[in-house]
Amino acid sequence: MKKLFCESLYNLEAYSPGDQPLGKIIKLNTNENPFLPSPKISKFLKNFNEFDRLRKYPSPSSEKLREEIAKLHKISADEVLVTNGSDEALSILFRACLSENSTFLMPNPTYSLYPILKDLVMNGTKIKEIPVLENFSLDFETLKKEKANLLAFANPNAPTGILAEKKELIDLVKSLDCAVLCDEAYIDFAKPNSTMINEIKNLPNLFVSRTFSKSYSLAGLRVGYIISNKENIFELNKIRDSYNLGFLEQEIAKIAIKDQTYLKKNVKKIISLRENLKKDLEKLEFFVINSNTNFLFAKVPNLKAKELYDFLCSKKVFVRYFNYPNLKDYIRITIGIESEHKILLKWIKEFLNK
Ligand SMILES: Cc1ncc(COP(=O)(O)O)c(C=O)c1O
Repeated sequence: MKKLFCESLYNLEAYSPGDQPLGKIIKLNTNENPFLPSPKISKFLKNFNEFDRLRKYPSPSSEKLREEIAKLHKISADEVLVTNGSDEALSILFRACLSENSTFLMPNPTYSLYPILKDLVMNGTKIKEIPVLENFSLDFETLKKEKANLLAFANPNAPTGILAEKKELIDLVKSLDCAVLCDEAYIDFAKPNSTMINEIKNLPNLFVSRTFSKSYSLAGLRVGYIISNKENIFELNKIRDSYNLGFLEQEIAKIAIKDQTYLKKNVKKIISLRENLKKDLEKLEFFVINSNTNFLFAKVPNLKAKELYDFLCSKKVFVRYFNYPNLKDYIRITIGIESEHKILLKWIKEFLNK
């Protein structure tokens, strides 16, 4: 039979998300939040009786949720596009900006989904990767000189956890004439006032994406959003699915975003756990990069990162290992709860004979 799909599909490499093993394990591999989402959500779900609402289509543009997001960031609702996880926001932006002869620009490393999204758009799109500097910070001078159709990076970056200086980011966006995506999936764990959202009024090529998956503890809900000026959002809106978010997703995300007191408490706990784990790892002679996220990127003593990763897997403790030349000596550990850290440290000590 002749091939059913486009030739480019057969050559495409699928994204490989972190494992989602089930059962009695310690899961520190996909940067989920170890704490429950706002208790106001469980109250809402327990009392939910609007079954008739499920019979009807939801608000196509997640109108009320957009209004809440706009209120939080002190922007207007038409500067927000709500999406099915921030991954959908990225996918929409990639489709909008890239075509066969375009160039996609990214630092290396950054979120590993970007090159896949580039391939999904059009296999003919070129990719230019600019290695980060030796200390893993972005190479702003080189990035600024590039010509491209889209630049995407995460800030704080993944998997390093490094936060770039806002002034450097503003200069970078100003120096490029293409769309620039600043992916702020982890920004709630960063030092205050680090967001680029308030720059959208000055920078017409800037896009900022956010997610409910990390700081709001709602990875299972699949809600994210992208912010830019209203002209840009108007264009992006044309290529999203008409009903990209269900009624329950919209309602739950609205409750989460209104409960900023709970969010701040949750984030504070994670930051404190992160700093304690960093100190404990440093005592064991790991080199741990200062993190502005809910994970740590740590260089394993004696260059035994892969061996430690395999050993931890065998003990049902899952962290993330990236088998790339510049990352191969490190493991990425999602911040968990204290008892999980204790077990993690116990096995690490055993591995290191400490
Ligand atoms: C940098 C970055 N952006 C986006 C995402 C995806 O977030 P979402 O769950 O909203 O699709 C992740 C997930 O790990 C991430 O690390």
